[in-house]
Amino acid sequence: MSGTFYLTTPIYYVNDAPHLGHAYTTILADAMTRYRRLAGDETHFLTGTDEHGDKIAQAAAKAGISAQAMADQNSAQFRRAWDALGLGYDDYIRTTEDRHQKVVQAILQKLWDAGEIYLGKYGGHYCFGCERFYTDKEIVDGKCPDHLTTLTWIEEENYFFKMSKYQGWLIDTIQGRPDLVRPERYRNEVLGFLRDPLLDLSISRPRTRLEWGIPLPFDDRFVTYVWFDALLNYVSALGGPGDPRFEKFWPHAHHLIAKDILKPHAIYWPCMLKAAGLDLYRHLNVHGYWTIEGQKMSKSLGNVFPAVAPAEKYGIDAYRYFVLREMTFGLDADFSEAAFVTRLNADLANDLGNLVARATTLIASHAREAGAPGPATADEETVRAAAAEARRLLDEAMAEFAFQRGLAAIWEFIGAVNRYVDTTQPWSLARKPAERPRLDRVLVTLADALGYLGIVLEPFVPGAAGKIRAALGMTAPPRLADATVGRLDRLPPVQKLSGLFPRVEDRKPAVAEPGAASPAAAAGTLSIADFGKVELRVAEVLAAEPVPKSRKLLKLTVSLGSEQRTVVAGIAGHYAPADLVGKKVVVVANLQPATLMGIPSQGMVLAGSTEGDGALAVLTLDRDLPAGARVR
Ligand code: MSP
Repeated sequence: MSGTFYLTTPIYYVNDAPHLGHAYTTILADAMTRYRRLAGDETHFLTGTDEHGDKIAQAAAKAGISAQAMADQNSAQFRRAWDALGLGYDDYIRTTEDRHQKVVQAILQKLWDAGEIYLGKYGGHYCFGCERFYTDKEIVDGKCPDHLTTLTWIEEENYFFKMSKYQGWLIDTIQGRPDLVRPERYRNEVLGFLRDPLLDLSISRPRTRLEWGIPLPFDDRFVTYVWFDALLNYVSALGGPGDPRFEKFWPHAHHLIAKDILKPHAIYWPCMLKAAGLDLYRHLNVHGYWTIEGQKMSKSLGNVFPAVAPAEKYGIDAYRYFVLREMTFGLDADFSEAAFVTRLNADLANDLGNLVARATTLIASHAREAGAPGPATADEETVRAAAAEARRLLDEAMAEFAFQRGLAAIWEFIGAVNRYVDTTQPWSLARKPAERPRLDRVLVTLADALGYLGIVLEPFVPGAAGKIRAALGMTAPPRLADATVGRLDRLPPVQKLSGLFPRVEDRKPAVAEPGAASPAAAAGTLSIADFGKVELRVAEVLAAEPVPKSRKLLKLTVSLGSEQRTVVAGIAGHYAPADLVGKKVVVVANLQPATLMGIPSQGMVLAGSTEGDGALAVLTLDRDLPAGARVR
C-alpha cells in the first residue's frame, strides 16, 4: 500500500494554554501519520491555532494586552508544547496569517458571487463563550448547555450562508458513505441533528460588536464568524484551490477532532465545501473526552492537566503509550496517575522492556561463537504466525483509527515472544555444546522478533523503537513491509539494551499526620474486618479450555461444592488446560462478575507471580479439602 495521506487536528483556541486534551489529539495525529509513513504513504500533518473571535478578544482585554499579542504568545506556547513532545507536524497554520486570510476572503467572495450568501436580520440567544447563537430547543433553563451561563439576546443585521438548502444532500451523503463520520455513534448523532430542519448559518459579526476577525470582502462593516474562518484553515494551509499542494493532498483529507466540535465539522463544513464546489473530506474521525481522576477537566476545579506534564515526569513514550492504549477511540476515558503507572510498569517495563533486555543480553553474550542456525521448529512457526497475525490486526485497527486495538495486537505478539523464550530456554541450550545450532536458531528468531518490534512500535513509542533498531544496527528508515519474522538466517551483531522503560516504584502510602483520620488507612494497612469481606473459597477445576483469539486467557469451569461457576483466568501462558483439570485452587467468590473476551467470569483464581522473569503459579492446597471450603 502506498498512497497519499493528509491529516489535520482542530486548530486550538489561543485564549488557553495547551492541556492534556489538546495533546491527545495531536499525539494521535502524530502516531497516525507515522504509521502511514511507515506503510509507504506520502503524508502531510497539519495543526495550528484558531485566533479570531469574541473569546480571544475578551481574554486579551481581560489580560490587558492586544488580541494579536495574546494570539502570538499562546500560539507560540502550543507550538513549543508540540515540539517538546516531539510531534512531527508538517505545517502549523495560524488564522491571523495572510496566507489564511486571503483564502478565506477568496472563498467568501466566490460564495457571495454565486448567491450562496444573503444579508438578513437575526435575533437570538447568544453565548459569548461558545461564540454562537442557541436555538430554543438547545437552551437548558435559559442557559448555555455547555457553559451554564446566562445567554444574551442579540438582534442584528448579518450575512447568512444558505446552509438550509444542503440538508437533503447532506443526509443522502452521510447515508451513502457510512464511514464518512466515524465511529458510528457520531454518525448517528449527526443524522439525529439532521432530523430537525437545518437553518441558514449566520457567518458575519458586525464590527460595532467585534473587531477581531477577517473583514468580509464584500462588506467591510462586518468580520467573518470565527467558525467560518476557522474551518477553512484545512484548505488555506494547502494554499487553497488551484495550489498544487491542495490538488495533491485535499482528495486524501482526514480530520481528527473530539466530540465537542462534531456539529461544525459534520454539518457546517460539508455544506461550505459543497457550496464552494470543493470535494468533501474523506473521513471525519471523532474521539471522546478525557476526564482527570474521574472528573471533568475544568478551570474552576483547578484540574486542567498541562499538555507536557506527563512527559516531563514519565517520558514521552510512556505518555504516548498510555493515552493511545487507554482510550478506546470514540469513547471517553479517564486519566489517572495510578492507571498510568500500572500500564507503564506492566506493559512497558515488564512485557516490552524485559523482553528487549533479556533477548539482547542473550544474543550479545553468545554472538561470538554463533554459526549456522539449526532448522526452524514448531516454536519458531508459532512466533512467525503471531507476528503475521499482529500485523494483520494492526493494519485493520489503524484503518479505523482504533489505536488501542492496534497496540493490543502488538502486545499479544510481545506475549508470544516472551513465551517463546520461556519454552525454548536458551540459557539451558547454551550450557550444552551439542545444542549450539538450536541455540542459534532461537537467537536468530529473537533478533528477528526484536527487529519486527523496532518497526511496528515506531508510530506509538518512537523513542524506544529507535533504540531497539539502533541496538540491532538497523540504520535504514523503517518500513512496515519489512516487519516480518523469519527473514534473518544469520545472527546480526546486537548491542545489549536494558532499562528501556525503568519501572516506577509504586508510591509509598502517605505518612500519617498526627491526628490523621484513620490510623489503619494512614499506614496503608487493611483491618481484619475489611479482609473478611473477601470471600475466598476452595474450588475444584472441572474443565478448562483456551479462550478463542486470546493467548492469555483460559476458561475454567469450577465447582464450589454447591454450585458451578465459569472463571476466566489470565494463565494460558503458564498452564496447559489439561494440567489444571482436577486441581483444587483458590478463588475469590464474591468478586463482581466481569466479561472477558465475551465470556462472563464469576470469580478470580489466585496465583502468585514474579515481576522479573514472569513466572506464575496457581495456588493449590497443601492437604485435600472439599470444594467450597472457606479460605481465611
Ligand atoms: N478552535 C476550535 C476548533 C476549530 S477547528 C476548525 C476549538 N478549539 S479548542 O481549543 O477548544 O480545542 C478543541 C479540541 O481540543 C477538541 O476537539 C479535542 O481535539 C481537544 N480537547 C479539548 N479537551 C479535550 C478533552 N478533555 N479530551 C479530549 N480532547 C479534548 O474547539
